[in-house]
Amino acid sequence: MIGVSKKTKKKIQSAGKGGAHIECADAADRYGDWPAPTCIISDGPYGLGKFPGEPSVPSELATWYAPHIAAWAEHSRPDTTLWFWCTEIGWALTHPVLELHGWEYQECVVWDKGVAHIAGNCNSKTIRGTPVVTEVAVRYTRRNTLVSDSGPLPIKEWVRYEWQRSGLPMRLANEACGVKNAATRKYLTKCHLWYFPPPEALVAMAKYCNTHGAATKRPYFSLDGKSLPTEEEWRSMRAKWNHTHGVTNVWRSPAVHGKERMKSADGYLHACQKPLALMTRQIEASTDPGDVIWEPFGGLCSATVSAALIGRRAFAAENHKPYFKLASERLDNVFKENKKHVA
Ligand SMILES: C[S@@+](CC[C@H](N)C(=O)[O-])C[C@H]1O[C@@H](n2cnc3c(N)ncnc32)[C@H](O)[C@@H]1O
Repeated sequence: MIGVSKKTKKKIQSAGKGGAHIECADAADRYGDWPAPTCIISDGPYGLGKFPGEPSVPSELATWYAPHIAAWAEHSRPDTTLWFWCTEIGWALTHPVLELHGWEYQECVVWDKGVAHIAGNCNSKTIRGTPVVTEVAVRYTRRNTLVSDSGPLPIKEWVRYEWQRSGLPMRLANEACGVKNAATRKYLTKCHLWYFPPPEALVAMAKYCNTHGAATKRPYFSLDGKSLPTEEEWRSMRAKWNHTHGVTNVWRSPAVHGKERMKSADGYLHACQKPLALMTRQIEASTDPGDVIWEPFGGLCSATVSAALIGRRAFAAENHKPYFKLASERLDNVFKENKKHVA
């Protein structure tokens, strides 16, 4: 069992293989014991009343999610990505709470399950609207600030502030970075064309200002107030993004059927099982091998299974015991079937 606090130690049932951990618990009780995540995949209530404790109307979702969203903010790192799955209206109602806790909107991915999702299931005379075949997965990153000698500043302002503090003309940022004009134009501008300086550029600007700038007690561009930043430290100041060419924000993929769908003789074992391919896409886009993924609302723990298959560490909670057992068996089977591949 991973870093379980004394208070909760006895109560938690857990299953784990390699780097994947599933716990039978309320996620809210576990965040403080899990290692900080590089990526959180939230697939919790949609306001449909489908599983125990799920609100039956979307208007209750913001209140339901608020403590979780606050805890994710508290335990995340500057480079944490959050993928928030929901219905369109559920997300719209919850978005203000996400914003309030420093989660910055990046993009809304639409999962289009295709017309087969409603075929034969929809009485066109009575629904009085278009049949819904979508869910959304909205990507957020942290709204980070950095400390300066006049208080915390958003990163864009901080970079400009630190350069100006050195007393050097802005045009010399180009000399610092060894470029003709791109550094001043991209990294020190106030406008919307600002770029997050790549690690080598930030480190070069820091060295330049500390060598040629006015004498100061607080080194220029220092993240801890004492030393110059390393490339690695600067890289971890924003969320990861691994780009796949040709992938847009509309993901066309049917709901899970066939061999991947977990079933019993009576039907599907969980109403909301997500395709492993979509979870894998989210994890690959926002993490690297060895990184930590959180899946607070496990269900059958599709994100955790995907994470294990591509060499990430995963921490999942599922508070309904029957689902927890099913997810644990699923993880076991995945390990048996993929012995050679799963980390
Ligand atoms: C939408 S389902 C997740 C489905 C999952 N993505 C999959 O592919 O199987 C949400 C799950 O979260 C669980 N849940 C709800 N509130 C929870 C909480 N506070 N802590 C842990 N699990 C919770 C529910 O029992 C439900 O199984």
